[in-house]
Amino acid sequence: MIHVNTYERWWIGLSIAMLAVFAVAIAVSGFVLGFKVPSPEARVDPNTVAKTGNFANPGLRQLAPGKYEAYVRAEANPWKFRPEKLNVPVGSTVTFYVTSADVQHGFKIAGTNANLQVLPGQVSKVTITFTTKGQYPFICDEYCGVGHQNMFGTITVE
Ligand code: CUA
Repeated sequence: MIHVNTYERWWIGLSIAMLAVFAVAIAVSGFVLGFKVPSPEARVDPNTVAKTGNFANPGLRQLAPGKYEAYVRAEANPWKFRPEKLNVPVGSTVTFYVTSADVQHGFKIAGTNANLQVLPGQVSKVTITFTTKGQYPFICDEYCGVGHQNMFGTITVE
């Protein structure tokens, strides 16, 4: 039997405990908090996405009372979201479809759990119900170039 120093045994125990904590944290974020790895809702051609289809005319569309879908296109040079402003009545459920026409961007809506990775060629989707009136800023939270800090917009819930 190998002799293991007491301190060594503590460190081994601590290392195993930390791995267990990380495994639990991953399980909780995935199964309780609903974190998901990015999976494509659909594929688009980033070269033509600004000219054809729903992303050529981005914005909000009403599907039914209190139910909307929003197509958002993220672009670099100039760095911006199209559209940059969205208005919906309080209580609305909005499904966001977001894609990029060029490089990797992010789409994070403050005050919600919406936080998408936005990849060229891929459509990312998230559905949010806005139960409280107010301004919900959204930003690009993945560094995408020298104009990254210019990528922001606002959802107004009234
Ligand atoms: Cu787009 Cu950062």
